[in-house]
Amino acid sequence: MTDRLNTIAGWVLFSGVIALGLSILSGMFFQADKPHAPEVAGYPIEAAEEEGAEEGPSLAVLLAGGDAAEGEASFAKCQSCHTMNQGGANGIGPNLYAIVGKPVGKHIAGFAYSGALSGHGGDWTFENLDAWLASPKAFAPGTKMSFAGLSNPQERANVILYMLANGGGPALPAPPAPEAAAEGEAAAAGDPSAEAGPAAAPGADAAGAVAAEAPAAAANASN
Ligand code: HEC
Repeated sequence: MTDRLNTIAGWVLFSGVIALGLSILSGMFFQADKPHAPEVAGYPIEAAEEEGAEEGPSLAVLLAGGDAAEGEASFAKCQSCHTMNQGGANGIGPNLYAIVGKPVGKHIAGFAYSGALSGHGGDWTFENLDAWLASPKAFAPGTKMSFAGLSNPQERANVILYMLANGGGPALPAPPAPEAAAEGEAAAAGDPSAEAGPAAAPGADAAGAVAAEAPAAAANASN
């Protein structure tokens, strides 16, 4: 009797195993009616910016009005991978002392840059740094710098100023004299009230770097 029970139990167990195996197999083959899992788990986190970047103040203006000390505070976001001091160690990313103006992806001889960056070409101009910090992936697809980017243009400018303060670099781009730009727009709109005389004064103060703009502004004002 126990023999027969054992036999029955054995067949039940066996058929269960077969059924399980079949259901796994059919699950592998017949997926059409089931919702498919995405091929890549999760979803990429993109820096939500870029749109409207054109509409804001120019990089030159942001740099002129920026603050290296605030950039230093923002640099906390970079410090897990980068040092900024002269001769500082490379981390996950290369040391960034005196990076502004240097060739892209070649600054630190001993650092294993990705081909995406070392083969990029060009120098770390203010514009390139701005684009890089906005979205490393967009600037150099395939880069090893897994950092989403800084979406705030002023924050990027501040960080660039902080880098510039550590090791120097090219001269800052001269921002357009604000009142000249304003008058240009007003004149284009045919607005005679464009002759905002006193507004020209601050521009004259800042004129060291923008002396070339001043005569144009004066000419505009006298029209
Ligand atoms: C998760 C680590 C990580 C973070 C965070 C990070 N970086 Fe990087 N960074 C890298 C790596 C890795 C590279 C080299 C990329 C390559 O070779 O593709 C790099 C490269 C750079 C370069 C180019 C250096 C050169 O020698 O050409 C600059 C400039 C830079 N990072 C600035 C920053 C700034 C500024 C921040 C913060 C706003 C930041 N990085 C945040 C890892 C990081």
